[in-house]
Amino acid sequence: MASARGQEALESLRTEAAGLPGRISLVPLDVTDATAVAAAVRHIETDIAPIGLAVLNAGSHRPMSAESFKADDVAALLNLNVMGIAHCLEGLLPAMIGRGQGQVALVASLAGYSGLPSAAGYGASKAAVINMAEALRPELEGLGVTLQVVNPGFVETPLTDKNDFPMPFLMPADKAAGAFFRGLQSTQFEIVFPRRFAYLMKLLRLLPYRLFFALTRRTLSKR
Ligand SMILES: NC(=O)c1ccc[n+]([C@@H]2O[C@H](COP(=O)([O-])OP(=O)(O)OC[C@H]3O[C@@H](n4cnc5c(N)ncnc54)[C@H](OP(=O)(O)O)[C@@H]3O)[C@@H](O)[C@H]2O)c1
Repeated sequence: MASARGQEALESLRTEAAGLPGRISLVPLDVTDATAVAAAVRHIETDIAPIGLAVLNAGSHRPMSAESFKADDVAALLNLNVMGIAHCLEGLLPAMIGRGQGQVALVASLAGYSGLPSAAGYGASKAAVINMAEALRPELEGLGVTLQVVNPGFVETPLTDKNDFPMPFLMPADKAAGAFFRGLQSTQFEIVFPRRFAYLMKLLRLLPYRLFFALTRRTLSKR
C-alpha cells in the first residue's frame, strides 16, 4: 500500500514495481487532513488487509533564515511533519494494539538532534518526532507494537535537489533505501544512515554550547 497526495507519482511507482513480487494498492491521501487519514486507515484495514507495517514518511523542508522567519512557515512544517504523523498514529495504533502486533516507523531526521542554521522550523519538527517516538516506544513494546524512528542524513531526493549548499555525506536514494529496509527488518529503536554522519551528529549534540556554536556558525558562511 502506498500513499501520497499525487496520484500520478503513485501510478508511476506502481508501474516501476510491476514484475516484482507482491502488489501495490494506491491510497491517495493528504496526511494533514485528520478526517481523511482516519477514513484511509479504516478503508485499508477493512477492504485491503490489516496493516502490519506502516512507514510514516511524508514530510517536507523549508529553509528559513532569522531574517525571513515566519510563524506560518513553522506552522506548515509542524502541521505536515508532526501532525501528519500524529494523525496516522491515532488511526493505526488502536488496530495494532487490538491485534497485539504491528510495526510503525516514524521518519524524522538527523537534523532533529540539534538546532542547525536555516532549519529552525524543520529541525524543531523533527526533534518533536524523535521525542514522540521515544515517549511511545516503551509502552508500545509492552503492547506488542514495535515503534521505530528513522533518522536519515542527506539523501538525494527532490527535497534535497533544492539545496544550494554542500551536503556532507550525501547518499544516493537507492543506498538509503537499502539501509532503511535493513533497519525495518530489525526491532532496533533508531534506524540511521549514513552511519558516519550520524555518529558525528550524535557527537555534536554532546558538545558544550561554546564549541557547538563555533561549529554550526561555520556552516553559515558556506550558504
Ligand atoms: N532527503 C533527505 O535528505 C532527508 C533527510 C532526512 C529526513 N528526510 C525525511 O524523509 C522524508 C521523505 O523525504 P524526501 O527527501 O523523500 O522528500 P520528497 O522527495 O519531497 O518526498 C516527500 C514525499 O512526501 C509526500 N507528501 C508530502 N506532503 C504530503 C502530505 N501532505 N500528505 C501525504 N504525503 C505527502 C510527497 O508526495 P506528494 O507531494 O504527492 O504528497 C512525497 O512522496 C521526509 O519526512 C523528510 O523530512 C529526508
